[in-house]
Amino acid sequence: MPGSPVPSPSSSRLPVAELHLHIEGTLEPELIFELAERNGIDLPYRDVEDLGARYEFTDLQSFLDLYYANMAVLVTEDDFAAMTTAYLRRAAVAGVRHAEIFIDPQAHLARGVDLSTSIGGVARALATSLDDFGISTSLIAAFLRDQPADEALSVLEDLIDMRAPIIGIGLDSAEVGYPPAKFAAVFDRARAAGLECVAHAGEEGPPSYIREALDVLQVARIDHGIRAMEDPELVRRLVDEQIPMTVCPLSNVRLRAVDVLAAHPLPRMLEAGLNVSIHSDDPSYFGGYLDDNLDRVTSTFDLDSPTLSRLASNSVRSAFLPEPRKAELLAEVEAWFKERLAATAP
Ligand code: ADE
Ligand code: ZN
Repeated sequence: MPGSPVPSPSSSRLPVAELHLHIEGTLEPELIFELAERNGIDLPYRDVEDLGARYEFTDLQSFLDLYYANMAVLVTEDDFAAMTTAYLRRAAVAGVRHAEIFIDPQAHLARGVDLSTSIGGVARALATSLDDFGISTSLIAAFLRDQPADEALSVLEDLIDMRAPIIGIGLDSAEVGYPPAKFAAVFDRARAAGLECVAHAGEEGPPSYIREALDVLQVARIDHGIRAMEDPELVRRLVDEQIPMTVCPLSNVRLRAVDVLAAHPLPRMLEAGLNVSIHSDDPSYFGGYLDDNLDRVTSTFDLDSPTLSRLASNSVRSAFLPEPRKAELLAEVEAWFKERLAATAP
């Protein structure tokens, strides 16, 4: 794509895989206004500043209310493609070399936007992500746990019927009161169709939701999972099985899952031997992309190079990628640290 920054593998940022990113959570205020104008939609905000001033959240639900409301500007396939391309451009600068991206198809269906428009627009931009931005990508359809399970099952059947370009399914939206087991049949069907399975669990919900996601939904990764730290026996299991946990520190602070970044359980999770990696969740709403999340935890916890290398390598190993691509990315991580060491040698 002309004019797009294509970072070389020796980009100045640490090479990482982004495994926890909601594409709708990358809609920046400027793009929200641009798309609203394009589609003749009246926004209930005066301007970009007025919208930005509303990015103060008290919990997950207070964020979700704004997140779903702002999706109103996504109408055409081109809108979904524009949002995705804008994300990829920013992700390349952040050092992202592979991204597994969530989309919330039900949130668009509820507004009258069909699957071919939402999935088609995002997938169109992802199809050329490696050539355009040096980022390999795949798409995961996330189901809304606060909506009926039979609706999720019917959407999944439609996705399978239309051969949607997805590699897996996830589970997101309001967590407390919506335990994973409700979606057992949906995840069984996805597995039978050869799809990968992941689920948000232990973001606001109790450790038992993490256990249920593992035992009933048989997920390969836990998104967030920070509340596992309240349950030592669960932590032992997660360590023993090296279950990948996609941790999003700035999200946890902005949604008040933790009071301040210094109180985030990340250092204790690392110390316990958990398989954690760092991600950005909804970067436009939470004040930072993957590079910002890494910078903030590095400075807050004084993380050393071996720890950063572990976080980046975990992100690659936890990806749904063929082994040769993982080996290529792990070599990039190693080369990045060697280059940095050489640059700082006396
Ligand atoms: N959807 C978008 N972001 C989410 C989050 N942090 N938790 C649950 N559902 C979400
Ligand atoms: Zn999330």
